[in-house]
Amino acid sequence: MTKENKSLQNLINNNRKWAEDISDKDPEFFPTLAKQQAPEYLWIGCSDSRVPANEIVGLLPGELFVHRNVANLVVHTDMNMLSVLQYAVEVLKVKHVIVCGHYACGGVKAAMHNQKLGLIDNWLLEIRDLYKNKQAKFRDVSSEEDKVDLLCELNVVRQVNNLSHTTIVQDAWARGQSLSIHGWIYGLKDGKVNDLDVTVSEGAQLSDQYRLED
Ligand code: CO
Repeated sequence: MTKENKSLQNLINNNRKWAEDISDKDPEFFPTLAKQQAPEYLWIGCSDSRVPANEIVGLLPGELFVHRNVANLVVHTDMNMLSVLQYAVEVLKVKHVIVCGHYACGGVKAAMHNQKLGLIDNWLLEIRDLYKNKQAKFRDVSSEEDKVDLLCELNVVRQVNNLSHTTIVQDAWARGQSLSIHGWIYGLKDGKVNDLDVTVSEGAQLSDQYRLED
C-alpha cells in the first residue's frame, strides 16, 4: 500500500470508530436518520477547513442542511446555491438560514489585493466590488487585519441581503412561512460565533426596490 493510500485508510478507520461510537450510544440513530431528514437550519458558510459547520454549533447529522463555498457567497445566478436554498426552504421547510462568515477569510483577503490567483478571481469579484463601494468605512481602520475582518463582516451582511432578495425567500414570506435570515461571523482565534444582528424575517424589512409583489 502506498503512503498516500495509508493516510486515506486512516480516514476510513476514523469513520468506522465514529459510526460505532454513535451506534453504541443510540442503536436507532442511523436507522431513524436513514428514513428522513428534518433540519431546522440551512447553513451557508465558507469552504475553509477551519470552519466545520456542524461541530461549531454542536449539531448532529440530520440537524443542519449545509451549503459551503469560498467566502460564503450568495450569487443570484449560482444554480447550486439556488437549488440548495429552494430545497431547504420549500421542501425541508427550514425556519432559519444562517450565513456564517469567518474572520481572516482567505477569499476576502484575496479580493482586497491585486495578486492574480486565477479562475477564483472571478468568483471573488463580488467582494472586490463591495470593498470598492464601501471604501468610506475603511478610512479610519489602520491595521490590515482589522480591514480584512471588517470586510468579512460587510460580506456577511451583503449575503444576508442577497438571500432576502431572492424569489425563493420572498415567496416563502408571501405564503406566510416562518423564515429568518441571519448573519453570523466565526472567530478562527477563539472558536466563537457572533451574531451580527442583521436578521431579516419579513418582506417589510426590504427596501422598496427589492420588494416583489403579485
Ligand atoms: Co473563508
